[in-house]
Amino acid sequence: MDREAAFDFDQMVDELQQEILDREQALYSDVVLRESGAPKNMGRMPDADAHGVVHGWCGDTMEIYLRFDSGTIQEATFVTDGCGATLACGSVLTEMVQGLTLAKAEWVLPKDLVHALDGLPEESMHCAGLAISTLHNALFNWRVSEMEQQEEAAD
Ligand code: FES
Repeated sequence: MDREAAFDFDQMVDELQQEILDREQALYSDVVLRESGAPKNMGRMPDADAHGVVHGWCGDTMEIYLRFDSGTIQEATFVTDGCGATLACGSVLTEMVQGLTLAKAEWVLPKDLVHALDGLPEESMHCAGLAISTLHNALFNWRVSEMEQQEEAAD
C-alpha cells in the first residue's frame, strides 16, 4: 500500500469510528455510555451464595452472582457476552441490588433498571429484561437452596 492509500484508509477508519461514536451518543444516555465503557462488579464470584444464568433470545448470556448476609445482598457481580447495553445493565443492576433484602430484590423490575440507566432505545430494552431475568433466576436458586438446607437440618 503506498503512502497516499494508507492515509486514505486511516482517514476512512477514523471517519467510521466517529460515525459509530456519534450514533451511539445519539442512541444511548450518558449513564449507559459511562457504565458500558467502565462496568462495575464484573467477574465471577467463586464462593457466591447464589448464581443465576439466562440465555437471551438475542443469543447473549448473562450470569449474576450474589453473596448474602442475614438475608441481605452484600455483594453482586455479573458476567456477560452481550452488547454494550447489557454491560451497562449488569453494572447498574449489581449496584442497585447491593443492600437489598431478597424480598425487595425480587421486586426490581426492568422499568426500574431502565429508569436508573436514564432510558434505553427500544432495540435494547430486551437487554434490561435479560439482566432482570438473570437476577430473578439467581434469587430463585437462592430460595431453593435455602429451602433444601432447612429440610436437611430438619431431617
Ligand atoms: Fe443481546 Fe443486548 S443484544 S443482550
